[in-house]
Amino acid sequence: MREFTMKQITVIGSLNYDLVTYTDIVPEGGETVQANAFENHLGGKGLNESIAVARLSKDTEVRMIGNVGNDSFGKELKQALIDAKVDTSYIKTIEGISSGVAVILVEKSGENRILITAGANGELKPSVEDYETYFEQDTGFVLLQNEYPHTIESINWLKSNRPSINISYNPSPFKPEYIKSEVLSKIDLLIVNETEALDVAGSLLSAEEADKFKTRTDESEMNGFKELSEKLVKLINQDNINLVIITMGSKGCLYSSKSTGTAFQASEKVKNVVDTTGAGDTFFGGVVSQLSNGSTIPEAVKFATKASSLVIQKKGAVESIPFAEDVEKL
Ligand code: RIB
Repeated sequence: MREFTMKQITVIGSLNYDLVTYTDIVPEGGETVQANAFENHLGGKGLNESIAVARLSKDTEVRMIGNVGNDSFGKELKQALIDAKVDTSYIKTIEGISSGVAVILVEKSGENRILITAGANGELKPSVEDYETYFEQDTGFVLLQNEYPHTIESINWLKSNRPSINISYNPSPFKPEYIKSEVLSKIDLLIVNETEALDVAGSLLSAEEADKFKTRTDESEMNGFKELSEKLVKLINQDNINLVIITMGSKGCLYSSKSTGTAFQASEKVKNVVDTTGAGDTFFGGVVSQLSNGSTIPEAVKFATKASSLVIQKKGAVESIPFAEDVEKL
């Protein structure tokens, strides 16, 4: 058994090389348009979350479990983790397959459209023995998303074998077949945007109830999503942190927990949104880093809101993730 003197946070997930085109116009099928600029950035939801947690937490051991290809992209992605002092012992280099790639269009408003090709991320399928090695001890938070094929297997193994770990899950990209009540009941922290929140309702609830939430959110976004977050928080695990967050873009976010009830956190005002890529991952990492540091849920959500407001003012995902001191200065 290893002895942990520090808090520990583990991310299981993707590393992508982001190929980003900045454009005023998104082409229609069959159309060619002139873009403004092209840049390479480092990304992948797993990598972004790992670096966000590493830059935003204190006295915490951050580890990432993931795969890269044996190519120059893979070397850069792994080096970014090393530079951020993330433990890369469980980053595997897979022969004969390229690293994950994301093709991203960023519009003038900063909004993005993302196409991912899994590459080596698609080979991340840990065995029971692997999980036993990764999680010798029951500790900390684990962050998961859907950019590797075995997210549900990870959730099942963790909840059966290390029940006090807070399973923190952003079901993105959304896969309806993953969202079953049995899976949701094992999640301790669920973080979704508005579209994903309605998608979760659509997969989980009866058609009638899901339609009711859709109508309620059309009538009043705030009331509809408040009711939905209150519904979802009863369906996730009740034993650990028990937190549902619905992010609402430039408006802010709603959160619900049995310990805090439901509350709204307004976003920070940002004049010039440059690129929203990585903002959601930084928000996620920000919340978990602060909860792990011992902050209350409202404090953690407020901190994460500030952190993601800094991300959207710069280009790229990893490159725009702030450090705790930058957020504290705000
Ligand atoms: O959430 C943003 C990330 O999604 C990008 O960095 C891209 O790689 C995709 O995984």
